[in-house]
Amino acid sequence: MDNTLFPLLLYLFFSLLSTPSFSLSISAPTNTTNGYFSLSFPSFDASFANTNLTVFKPASIASNGALQITPDTQNDGYSLTQKAGRIFLSQPFPLWENTSSGVRLATFSTAFDINIYRPNGSLPGEGFAFLIASSLEQPPPGSENEYLGLTNLTLNGNPSNKFVAIELDTVKQSYDPDDNHVGLDINGVNSTVANSLTPFNITISPAIAIGTNYTVWIDYNGSSRHIWVYMAIQGNPKPAKDVLNAPLDLSEVINPKAYIGFSASTGITYELNCVLAWELMVEKLNKDKTGLSKATIAIIVGLSCSISAILALLLLAFYIRRKQVGDDPAMLKGTLRSLPGTPREFDFKELKKGTKNFDETMKLGQGGFGVVYKGVLVGDNGQDMAVAVKQFSRTSTKGQEDFLQELSIINRLRHKHLVRLQGWCHKNGVLLLVYDFMPNGSLDQHLFGDPEKPILGWDRRYTIVTGVASALHYLHNEYDQMVVHRDLKASNVMLDSQFNARLGDFGLARALETDKTSYAELEGIPGTMGYIAPECFHTGKATRESDVYGFGATILETVCGRPPRCDIAGFHFLVDWVWKLYREGHILEAVDQRLDGNFDEDDADRLLRLGLMCSHPTPGERPKTQAIVQILSRSVPPPEVPPFKPAFVMPAAEPDNESDSSRLRSSSYTVSTSDGWTYSSNYASKEHLTNDGSIV
Ligand SMILES: *[C@@H]1O[C@H](CO)[C@@H](O)[C@H](O)[C@H]1NC(C)=O
Ligand SMILES: *[C@@H]1O[C@H](CO)[C@@H](O)[C@H](O)[C@H]1NC(C)=O
Ligand SMILES: *[C@@H]1O[C@H](CO)[C@@H](O)[C@H](O)[C@H]1NC(C)=O
Ligand SMILES: *[C@@H]1O[C@H](CO)[C@@H](O)[C@H](O)[C@H]1NC(C)=O
Ligand SMILES: *[C@@H]1O[C@H](CO)[C@@H](O)[C@H](O)[C@H]1NC(C)=O
Ligand SMILES: *[C@@H]1O[C@H](CO)[C@@H](O)[C@H](O)[C@H]1NC(C)=O
Ligand SMILES: *[C@@H]1O[C@H](CO)[C@@H](O)[C@H](O)[C@H]1NC(C)=O
Ligand SMILES: *[C@@H]1O[C@H](CO)[C@@H](O)[C@H](O)[C@H]1NC(C)=O
Ligand SMILES: *[C@@H]1O[C@H](CO)[C@@H](O)[C@H](O)[C@H]1NC(C)=O
Repeated sequence: MDNTLFPLLLYLFFSLLSTPSFSLSISAPTNTTNGYFSLSFPSFDASFANTNLTVFKPASIASNGALQITPDTQNDGYSLTQKAGRIFLSQPFPLWENTSSGVRLATFSTAFDINIYRPNGSLPGEGFAFLIASSLEQPPPGSENEYLGLTNLTLNGNPSNKFVAIELDTVKQSYDPDDNHVGLDINGVNSTVANSLTPFNITISPAIAIGTNYTVWIDYNGSSRHIWVYMAIQGNPKPAKDVLNAPLDLSEVINPKAYIGFSASTGITYELNCVLAWELMVEKLNKDKTGLSKATIAIIVGLSCSISAILALLLLAFYIRRKQVGDDPAMLKGTLRSLPGTPREFDFKELKKGTKNFDETMKLGQGGFGVVYKGVLVGDNGQDMAVAVKQFSRTSTKGQEDFLQELSIINRLRHKHLVRLQGWCHKNGVLLLVYDFMPNGSLDQHLFGDPEKPILGWDRRYTIVTGVASALHYLHNEYDQMVVHRDLKASNVMLDSQFNARLGDFGLARALETDKTSYAELEGIPGTMGYIAPECFHTGKATRESDVYGFGATILETVCGRPPRCDIAGFHFLVDWVWKLYREGHILEAVDQRLDGNFDEDDADRLLRLGLMCSHPTPGERPKTQAIVQILSRSVPPPEVPPFKPAFVMPAAEPDNESDSSRLRSSSYTVSTSDGWTYSSNYASKEHLTNDGSIV
């Protein structure tokens, strides 16, 4: 290898890596009430080293946001050859346990993006592995070259190693099929099973200038004790055919609690063993005792881009096939069944029984798209399991489209502050979605809906706002195709048993990249007066900025304990009253009186100012979710708010939507809001102009 060429190639490589395909605030592997640990790293930050991740040098977290399991530069005095490195999640995961009925193993799924770059003209070396190890240890001495950072000449094959790995090996040893294979390694690098990747048209480390990003999926079923590995070029769906599968009883190899990570080595030749993104879900064995999460969880993981690609393809296939064969419910079901990783299908009888035949007494609420019931189902171990069942009111094709849309969106969104979809059911044209039951209902009920409920304390309110912000930040930034929620309001903020916020109702969410963000298309404005950004009445278009507006309204109602549309001190909107108090220097008077002064003044000031700034009539002046998250974490000061609420200025028509008449229908369609009002948009915009232009 010509060393003068190398920095240039490296520069090229990094400049190509420098625009991350997705970015978000990463949720650490925390307990959920869902029955699994879940974590997602859309990219990596150097600050994760030795907190969330344990990095054994010469592995590193590079400034481009990737894990480099072996060195990526010749800085720091490293040469690139003859190196072995490892990076683990710092927290161990319980992967199996002894129970009275025998050994129980955790099911898990993971997906990660890799780029095993090698300079053109050189040979790759040596290999990369996904590793499950019994202890948090650095690679043993002598584990470079063929040992992949997993083991060494003396230890190879020794049962005391207690590790399982999936190797992607780029050098052929005498025991290997070739120099481009995937293998299952148990306690050693002589793979138990190994398959060449060449027949799959996969070259782990191709001889091209920037390498190829691949997505690798690894699924382990703890019940059937079997492992599957899938691989595709990044951005492609998870293939139907695995590249390797094998029986595997983890309890025979590793400790009950084990560490999950990556390992790699170079030899006399080298490659960059680079992980770009990572997602992992591990079933929790010790279920919590709240009784809500005892079902066996269908564990679904995929990198967002891959899943969205699959869903896009499947939806397309569905529409095309439906055109050919008509509206066949069996077809819909067939399509859904074939969605990889789809939450499970529920039996209609089960849901009917669980909701007492959809009895009024089981009704939890009513949204724009249907009625929500509480259901009590029988969990896997025979215990009761509470769920929320959403019944779609429209059973026409339109309903099915809504259904598929909701499913496709929810399915790919995973965040601890989003309500989780458990499954679905389609029977006689009735579509049902089954969600985690939220024992504490929705936020609005606690703020002003139900006088019987105890007052929501200040700390909880602050935590709820923070949770909603983090969910919104995730929705807006996680994917290449960002998602707008469109219907952010207190009644869509659900509360789990710990009063953590869980954002629900993605029925109206759409990927922003399409034209389909028009409000008009949904036959009315989905949302409630006071939550809808003023520009929406003119553009009819939901945007991230209009979501932030809805978030601002939600903050204000959470702090003030009043809905956004309320008559107070001569004002018709909460935001106008708060703005006046702010201008007059006593903003804290806006805080819910029922708290009796039990709140943190700095935090209340922060929330109220943030709420006002998010309610700014000019979309571009509203803070972005990134800034919101920072303000809420108190790492930056609250925003400067102008003393007078600026006037709303009609936005200039965007060049790309002039021809789309559906977006400009604001003078002719009827607005139905979920609190039962109906009024024409003329009225609505007049109301808003008054609201924005002068102080009533
Ligand atoms: C590989 O992934 C990185 C980071 O996600 C991205 O910047 C780059 O464009 C990808 N390269 C290719 C060839 O897709
Ligand atoms: C990393 O760990 C810290 C401390 O445990 C935690 O606060 C933070 O959220 C984690 N960050 C990520 C990105 O997981
Ligand atoms: C997480 O779960 C463990 C065991 O299930 C429990 O001991 C711990 O308190 C939980 N932590 C949180 C933050 O809920
Ligand atoms: C599990 O049970 C087996 C057999 O009863 C026993 O030999 C083993 O030590 C147990 N392992 C753990 C981790 O409890
Ligand atoms: C392999 O690792 C073990 C444990 O660290 C060490 O004792 C042994 O010397 C190493 N063998 C070689 C060949 O380096
Ligand atoms: C691995 O394969 C090599 C070469 O065939 C052999 O010498 C060695 O004993 C094998 N090791 C184990 C643990 O099977
Ligand atoms: C691999 O590529 C060849 C030629 O492009 C094609 O004929 C073959 O079907 C491909 N195989 C797979 C498994 O994709
Ligand atoms: C790789 O190098 C060979 C000659 O060594 C050259 O022909 C080829 O075009 C190069 N490929 C790329 C992608 O740079
Ligand atoms: C795991 O295997 C069991 C038994 O074969 C099967 O019933 C279950 O559906 C599988 N789970 C998943 C998530 O595939």
